[in-house]
Amino acid sequence: MRKNIVAGNWKMNKTLQEGLALATELNEVLAGATPNCDVVIGTPFIHLASVAATVDTTKINVAAQNCADKESGAYTGEISASMVKSTGANYVILGHSERRAYYGETAATLKVKTELALKNDLTPIFCIGEVLEERESNIHFNVVKSQIEESLFDFSAEDFGKIVLAYEPVWAIGTGKTASAEQAQEMHAFIRQTLTAKYGEAVAQNTSILYGGSCNAGNAKELFSNTDVDGGLIGGASLKVADFKAIIDAF
Ligand code: 13P
Repeated sequence: MRKNIVAGNWKMNKTLQEGLALATELNEVLAGATPNCDVVIGTPFIHLASVAATVDTTKINVAAQNCADKESGAYTGEISASMVKSTGANYVILGHSERRAYYGETAATLKVKTELALKNDLTPIFCIGEVLEERESNIHFNVVKSQIEESLFDFSAEDFGKIVLAYEPVWAIGTGKTASAEQAQEMHAFIRQTLTAKYGEAVAQNTSILYGGSCNAGNAKELFSNTDVDGGLIGGASLKVADFKAIIDAF
């Protein structure tokens, strides 16, 4: 059966020292705990190796927030999936709306990044979600379906089964305006139906679909109580251990 996952996305926050302090604090808080979900922290690239060496990786998984669409070579400034894997990280967040919007990531690029992540044994957390105008024009289901189809539907059922999805309505990210539990459930159920039509019931039922966008200690329980919401991708609230732990404890 699919996993419940609470994943933090630190985005471009924290110096190395601050990041290590945050990871250490989370590690201490979870040392005596048995979370009812998998825990992931998505740190900036430069933190990955130190954080992975600091935390108990049997309890806290480490994720990159991106990887290159090339294997290796003369691509100045890029970080490959194999480099990410070599740090001890085992997840990578791909297709975040901030990367699509600010760094021009396309469906085609994201398909290649996902292939390389899988090839290097990294679990992709693949982000999808509509902007406000798309929801207001009532095309949000089509937008999300296209994002999944265009980047992920050439994968075999076996490979697709290794991917985690994160539905992050762009209008809810960093705005304090969370999708309601009904809106989240409605979209997650639609996504699962889309997966069922393409890959069949078993793959669809085994795919974890996380919700992201102003998820916090106060609303996590209600969001996670929905049948098709299998956890959260947490931005701001993952930067405070007490808040992040409360979200983990929502399971
Ligand atoms: P916030 O939780 O800060 O809204 O960010 C969500 C997000 O983008 C996680 O990837």
